[in-house]
Amino acid sequence: MSRSLLSISDLGETGLRRLLSIADHMAEVNRRPNPKVPALRGKTVCNLFFEDSTRTRLSFETAAKRLSADTMNFAVSQSSLNKGESLRDTVETIAAMGVDAFVIRHGSSGAPWQLGAWTNASVINAGDGWHAHPTQALLDMYTVRTTLNRLEGFDGLSVAMVGDIKHSRVARSTTEAFKMLGADVTWVAPRTLLPPSHREHVVSNLDEVLDDIDIVYLLRMQKERMNEALVPNLREYTTRFGLTPERAARLGDHVLVMHPGPMNRGVEMAVDPSELRGSVINQQVTNGINVRMAVLFDLLGSGSENSLAGSAEV
Ligand code: NCD
Repeated sequence: MSRSLLSISDLGETGLRRLLSIADHMAEVNRRPNPKVPALRGKTVCNLFFEDSTRTRLSFETAAKRLSADTMNFAVSQSSLNKGESLRDTVETIAAMGVDAFVIRHGSSGAPWQLGAWTNASVINAGDGWHAHPTQALLDMYTVRTTLNRLEGFDGLSVAMVGDIKHSRVARSTTEAFKMLGADVTWVAPRTLLPPSHREHVVSNLDEVLDDIDIVYLLRMQKERMNEALVPNLREYTTRFGLTPERAARLGDHVLVMHPGPMNRGVEMAVDPSELRGSVINQQVTNGINVRMAVLFDLLGSGSENSLAGSAEV
């Protein structure tokens, strides 16, 4: 049975730390003039994206190519799913072509687990419904670790995760990873945008925490996942939860500003992020490639003839 990456809890703290340290090697590869190594030559990675994505899909594809894996991109809109073929038949057909790993994004929570029951290939969860997005959490942890030079962990760091927690798989996975590494996480959200049960400390106005935090993590308002009006209007939301110029001016010099993208400018991000001293949003995107290379290498390369220790080229 091949190994998979489905959630941060499955990975555990040891797995999380292992991937962050493999990502250091991948960052070194990515700094080279020719950022490509033969580590996964002969392996095939298939991207199955059932939801829209810019950065996650391109990031996985780039990561696979930099490790010399072959990539297949499955376009849902041009597939036989539109002729009524079931997801299971589609997956088994693709697997029969010889796939070592599936990268799946799906609107239904649990879809990657289902896929794992149908294939012997590794499965990587690139976001399932409201549930989990483990590689986003990894790139977030890697960004904090390298920016603040916190190799040991995040003890004493205080994080505010702000906005639409209820519909956000990023909020769940990234909160879990921050806590695993020792940070304190506060959720800043209106009641209507909180999940029904949670153990996090919650406040209902960004101003309450602004002076005490080291990291402000803004979430996108996920309009496509809302069937009901959960906020009175977006202007009201920005007044209480948005990063406005006034709030940005109050942030301490050391505070990092993070966002998983895509962002709603003028809603949660009511300033130009390029003018924020502490913004690491572009580093998050860059680090996405480092951590996804680490995940692919860990699942498909290590333990085989391609192991990191044995490969002088990585
Ligand atoms: C996130 C996602 O799709 O879960 N985006 C991403 O992967 N960078 C966050 C979002 O869509 O709000």
